Amino acid sequence: MPRILLTGGAGYIGSHTYVALCEAGHEVTILDDFSNADPGVIDRLARLTGGPVDVVRGSVLDAPVLEKVFAGAAFDGVVHFAARKAVGESVAKPLDYFETNIGGLVGLMQAMKDADVMRIVFSSTATVYGEPEVFPLTEDMPLSHTSPYAFTKLTCEHILSQAAKADPWAVGVLRYFNPVGAHPSGLIGEDPRGIPDNLMPYIAKVALGELPELQVFGNDYDTPDGTCWRDYIHVMDLARAHVLSLEALMGGRGHVLNIGTGQPVSVLEMHAAYQDACGKPLPYRIAPRRPGDVPKLYADPSKAKVELGFETEFGLGDMCGSSWAWVQAQAAGWRFNS
Ligand code: WQD
Repeated sequence: MPRILLTGGAGYIGSHTYVALCEAGHEVTILDDFSNADPGVIDRLARLTGGPVDVVRGSVLDAPVLEKVFAGAAFDGVVHFAARKAVGESVAKPLDYFETNIGGLVGLMQAMKDADVMRIVFSSTATVYGEPEVFPLTEDMPLSHTSPYAFTKLTCEHILSQAAKADPWAVGVLRYFNPVGAHPSGLIGEDPRGIPDNLMPYIAKVALGELPELQVFGNDYDTPDGTCWRDYIHVMDLARAHVLSLEALMGGRGHVLNIGTGQPVSVLEMHAAYQDACGKPLPYRIAPRRPGDVPKLYADPSKAKVELGFETEFGLGDMCGSSWAWVQAQAAGWRFNS
């Protein structure tokens, strides 16, 4: 079976993709510097997959590490997750984002080319659509960036496209909308450091009683309930999309795809769904708009259905229920999870 390298494979989406690839019969190696991942996830991945996890602790910015990784195994492809991904932080530290996200991709691709590993799945984002006004979003819509983070992802997409004109790269670009939820076992999930920026992990902390209330950033947007619309996708669906993307690349079929449900959900709808999932009232208050927020982001997911046969299977209740199970298991130290 194919051997796949997952850069950033100890992270939120990377760890779920690791499990999905193992279940699909792949041999998988994780390369991660654990700058934004708990090393304890590796033991839990071993529990989930029933076997040792092949991990290399290191950075994609470290050329000797990359050389050693590619000398050590004949990979059939790479899924590149390793990147910085906090929009707000990117505004404060743009050079760090350019170095890690753009420099990291170029260095990785150099090492891949030297080892004749020419298949890459790239983790992109819906924020490359900037502040769109036409919905749902299709892949041919205008691209722009509203943050250094989005600039790095858009630049990486251009780098991949240009490189494929010069050499026989097989490239899969997956534009994630809003990944949420967790593996049903409760053993892996989203594990942000400090107070979460993102909506679902923040609500989860309120549900645990670790934060007093949710601040809803604005209720005067042009949506039915006045709060922003997003296209939340279960991380298990997203992980499965990566397996299908790799299979397409094995067949020589590159792609650039939106990976979303196509169903917009407002902040207040997410709040209500999480209340239902956790079975308790979750305090919130309406707060001022958050700078940089766009009113709406949701996908037309039809191209992924045509090109990969992919469509989402999990709904909002599954997203919230799996998140609630995860944060409770995490708080209990996974003592009761098989
Ligand atoms: C969703 C909605 C907030 C927190 C970001 C990145 C994106 C991707 C996912 C990397 C917005 C509202 C949030 C809160 C709130 N990251 N909200 N109170 O901003 O759509 O996307 O994370 O790939 O690139 O841009 O996600 O979860 O932060 O916000 O009201 O405490 O929830 O205003 O409308 P976002 P989010």
